[in-house]
Amino acid sequence: MVSLAREVKKNGVLECWSNGRRDPTFQYSDIPVPHYSSTPLLQSSRGCSLISIRGLRKWFDSRRGRVEALRGIDLEVTEKEFCVLLGPSGCGKTTTLRCVAGLERPDAGELEIAGTVANSVARGIYVPTEKRDIGMVFQSYAIWPHMNVFNNVAFPLIKGRHRIPKDQIAEKVRAALKLVQLDGLEDRPATDLSGGQQQRVAMARAMVTEPKILLMDEPLSNLDARLREQMRVELKKITKAVGVTTLYVTHDQAEALSLGDKVCVMHDGEILQIAPPHEVYARPASLFVAQFVGEMNFVKGHVTGPSQVECPLGKLSLSVPTGISVSSPVTLAIRPEHVKVNAADGFPSGLSGNITSKNYLGDTALLEVEINGVTLLAKLAGDSELAVGQQAAVDLPAHRWHVFP
Ligand SMILES: Nc1ncnc2c1ncn2[C@@H]1O[C@H](COP(=O)(O)OP(=O)(O)O)[C@@H](O)[C@H]1O
Ligand SMILES: [Mg+2]
Repeated sequence: MVSLAREVKKNGVLECWSNGRRDPTFQYSDIPVPHYSSTPLLQSSRGCSLISIRGLRKWFDSRRGRVEALRGIDLEVTEKEFCVLLGPSGCGKTTTLRCVAGLERPDAGELEIAGTVANSVARGIYVPTEKRDIGMVFQSYAIWPHMNVFNNVAFPLIKGRHRIPKDQIAEKVRAALKLVQLDGLEDRPATDLSGGQQQRVAMARAMVTEPKILLMDEPLSNLDARLREQMRVELKKITKAVGVTTLYVTHDQAEALSLGDKVCVMHDGEILQIAPPHEVYARPASLFVAQFVGEMNFVKGHVTGPSQVECPLGKLSLSVPTGISVSSPVTLAIRPEHVKVNAADGFPSGLSGNITSKNYLGDTALLEVEINGVTLLAKLAGDSELAVGQQAAVDLPAHRWHVFP
């Protein structure tokens, strides 16, 4: 459920600790605070990279021992890019985002924001959150329940370093509300807003200071499925229209693929692949990425020749990545939309299978086909007339297989 903020930091940064953190007793003040550096901002030589992360490491020490939340993150986000951090719960997405925000202090590595060193552990540099040109949207929204929409959005313009003269506030707030299509709701109490509207207020508040960088941590996960999809499209439009550079965190692979110009798949404190969405989908760099992004069929086998793998489906001629030697065990992977199923005489050279289930979804139909004891999921056009119990010919094009060690 959506929770409401109950704390504001002295420096005017909004934070909500009641949601989105796994340790509800955790307080920001519990983090050991390294010595503050008063070093002036260092100019970097880099070009259009707005966020530059190098060798970022972060660990948490607790009574249960040390948790290595980030184990060497390298990432460049260029100007106006929409970059998504995607990965399962606990892989370090939020910690990465919080480091960029300055809410978490890394234990190693460097971080530059808009060409300025914001963090360097080696050089003892730490630029506090309020001096970083960022807007933030959290899963919890952190909307102030005792304020109306206008005052919630105006908050960063009244407090903190983005303070502006009073007579300019209304114009900025109206522009931000228009951006998220909430114009006209200025006087509405925050408690009378739907989840979707609260989400928009949080967006407007993050954008009202016109930051160079927008950080978003699972901002849509409290919305129901339909609204989430709608907001996804809108979010992309808004960020593109404004031209803000965005670092966006989600565990939802569909969200990552649809929103990102670039997707970083994370696992256990590391980034496993950084690529445009279509590439992550078409060429997963590892078995984990293949498992995490999209539907995939997996078949165990072992290499029997330079480009040959033996598995329960038979001997397949496939391109085996260099570095995997003969007789090594491998996992083969193929997407359901690449499993071609036809009437029994459809593919003379293909395999023969038995259709064991059919899930009709309108535009598509998902079929389970059993071949030599292996069940493969196939995605066919919705009008396919193949039926359960039918023998079918199955074609598994060699170039569609992925081979993982
Ligand atoms: N304040 C903290 N204290 C102790 N452990 C933490 C703290 N914050 C995060 N962690 C741990 O660091 C790891 C990464 O967490 P997080 O970045 O929140 O993951 P994600 O956002 O991908 O779900 C997890 O194992 C989490 O339990
Ligand atoms: Mg998280």
